[in-house]
Amino acid sequence: MIKPLRGMRDLAFEDAKKFEYFIKVASNSAKNYGYEYIETPLLEETNLFKRSVGNSSDIVNKEMYQFIDKGGNDVCLRPEGTAGVVRFFISSKLDRQQQKYKFFYYGSMFRYERPQKGRFREFHQFGCESFGEDSVYEDYTIIELISSIFDKLNIGYNLEINSLGCEKCMPKYRDKLVNFLESKKENLCEDCNKRITTNPIRVLDCKNESCKEQLVEAPKITDNLCESCSNDFTKLKEVLEQNKINYKVNKNLVRGLDYYNKTAFEFISNEIGAQNAIAGGGRYDKLVSFLDGKPTPAIGFAIGIERVLELINLPESKREGYYFGTMDSKGVSKMLEAAKKARDKAKVFVEYEPKKLKAHLKNADKYNAKYCAVLGEDELQNGTIWVKDLDEKSQEVVDFNDFIKSIRLD
Ligand code: HAM
Repeated sequence: MIKPLRGMRDLAFEDAKKFEYFIKVASNSAKNYGYEYIETPLLEETNLFKRSVGNSSDIVNKEMYQFIDKGGNDVCLRPEGTAGVVRFFISSKLDRQQQKYKFFYYGSMFRYERPQKGRFREFHQFGCESFGEDSVYEDYTIIELISSIFDKLNIGYNLEINSLGCEKCMPKYRDKLVNFLESKKENLCEDCNKRITTNPIRVLDCKNESCKEQLVEAPKITDNLCESCSNDFTKLKEVLEQNKINYKVNKNLVRGLDYYNKTAFEFISNEIGAQNAIAGGGRYDKLVSFLDGKPTPAIGFAIGIERVLELINLPESKREGYYFGTMDSKGVSKMLEAAKKARDKAKVFVEYEPKKLKAHLKNADKYNAKYCAVLGEDELQNGTIWVKDLDEKSQEVVDFNDFIKSIRLD
């Protein structure tokens, strides 16, 4: 028996319903905040991710589904959505227009990670990317958008924020941090030791308990921000407080992708186990120019859909639509004709096989239909149909044409 690959899974039944429901809620919210829908390819040049997510990140270093295609191109399945949208932004020359652009997307992302609860090799993200806005109010607004999506879905969360500084304050801080890390070198894990030279900031995020102990005294980015970054970070906290969005400053929040500066944030759930980040994002003001576009400030986020599905309770499912059946094979074509008309307005299931009324009623119940409509021999002759409302438990024989006309979306 062929099974899905390790770390990949089918989304069906209840999960698929939750997925659809989530996309509807999140897309509507994003649209209300001015975002428009975009689709970018699943497959991109490997270089796009090396240059954006970063060569020293785990994602690029260890987790890419990378191969040489039949034309000899080095390509990979996208591990995240931001890089593709930025590539589109630049290749469509939107960077040359003095306009603000906002896009939302959702779809599969691929990372060759060690699968565990909440961590898959193929997973889905819902993301938003905003270009051309450097005001910190945009940082607030994007956080508000995520929190409003979670509120609509009745999902609780803890918001963690940090500032990663800019090209003015970050290099100075980095030197300070490297000096500190060098002094602790012997007590840090192998990965951290490598990162001292490749990406020292990431050391702050090490999950190893003994490294964490060593890092308690490490200089913190937020204590080393330049005036402008510091003012923005203070403003962000103020506006979050004014609008009653609870947050915690996590001075070790650095994100696993290299393109961020200034505001970085994560939404954490304490109901889904170790893989508890349900959304993450931040500013990436340098990425557009880094990928050869005109310098454009930008900020975005992505929600991990699989993790959110664990937290969604669907609204109680109601009986819906119509079940059409016949007790005589002569009735099938009439039922099909009626179903064609009815399906413009409502969900209709047609049973092709003639059955006794009791069997039809059982079937209609199985399909969770609101109405069970059956053509018996008498009804066929009289131009009528027998209809039962399965909620109200009421039944009647009505004119066939009137019945078709009365069909509506409940
Ligand atoms: P990220 O933090 O790597 O950010 O991913 C965002 C979310 O995707 C995570 O918080 C998590 O919920 C989910 N996720 C990540 N990896 C997995 C996995 N292996 N299995 C299941 N869920 C996962 C980004 O990808 C950035 N592109 C976000 C962003 C957009 N920043 C700016 N714009």
